[in-house]
Amino acid sequence: MKKRLQQIQKKAKEEIASASSWEMVDKLRIKYLARRGLIAQEMSQIGSLPEDERPEVGRLANEVRKQVSRLINEAKTRFPRKFRQVGPRIKGQIVKSKDITIPGKRPPQGHLHPITQITEEIIDVFSRLGFSVVEGPEVELEYYNFTALNIPRDHPSRDPYDTFYVKEDVLLRSHTSPVQIRVMEAAQPPIRVLIPGRTYRPDTVDATHHFMFHQIEGLMVDEDVSMADLKTVLSIFAREVFGFEVKTRFRPSFFPFTEPSADMDISCFLCKGKGCAVCGQTGWIEILGAGMVDPKVFEAVGYDTEKYTGFAFGLGVERVAMLKFGIDDIRLFFEDDLRFLRQF
Ligand code: PHE
Repeated sequence: MKKRLQQIQKKAKEEIASASSWEMVDKLRIKYLARRGLIAQEMSQIGSLPEDERPEVGRLANEVRKQVSRLINEAKTRFPRKFRQVGPRIKGQIVKSKDITIPGKRPPQGHLHPITQITEEIIDVFSRLGFSVVEGPEVELEYYNFTALNIPRDHPSRDPYDTFYVKEDVLLRSHTSPVQIRVMEAAQPPIRVLIPGRTYRPDTVDATHHFMFHQIEGLMVDEDVSMADLKTVLSIFAREVFGFEVKTRFRPSFFPFTEPSADMDISCFLCKGKGCAVCGQTGWIEILGAGMVDPKVFEAVGYDTEKYTGFAFGLGVERVAMLKFGIDDIRLFFEDDLRFLRQF
């Protein structure tokens, strides 16, 4: 056993001397000095020696252990100490950041398109007036887009140069008014609906025209609905959306499906009516078309024209958004340029 201890000491000395890294030295520490290391194994057998040999072997074993331990400690100083990776932890995981108080990286978050924002704002105003939201198809029958709306066969808007035809009798709707017909075919008065949606016209694209744009249609039908109701509802809308000081005016107009018809202007919310570039120096901005539902339209859907009256209106969402946000080119809405969209 003495011999073995001496061999262990010799071997350890050699191995420690030839170790070339801190880790290698540490492995040797475990090999020789650990609780089940080579030296400990020898020491555990001392008890089985004859009693008179035990003290000497014990001393030797202790000596060997001290020696090896000293050599290992010495050897470790030859190498740069590698520490266990330390650092700030979150839930036990070491984080790379040296400063865990730096805010985290937020995943990019989108937001609603400005057209959707304005649409929802307008829906919000009308829903407080009892209007509910209805949608209709963008690919529409000629009957709903024109015929049922009392638009005559030879009306210029029916020309293929002014409407996208899919085939005879089928087209991309050129306004949201066909949904008026679909609503009235499906339900009886009282009716109060708001109809947002995409519309299509083969216009040459420029700063104020696009082949696809959005409209919001409104329709109210009941007994005793009058032009006063139309003016009241639309004036509330104008004030809610453009500001409380905004005034409205109604000019005579014409639509085949309303009689009488009117265009509604609002007083310019920018110059307060004095005249500026936005209102073309007039102090007024045209905002929508409206009118009392023409009895011919009620006939088309089978409503009793003696019993019911109603009003309808239609407005361009892009136009409202451009005015409210101060945008001067409609094309910006549809180019998906985040530098533009992020501003709203
Ligand atoms: N549909 C018409 C347009 O696109 C607008 C409108 C709707 C006018 C409802 C009156 C009533 O120009």
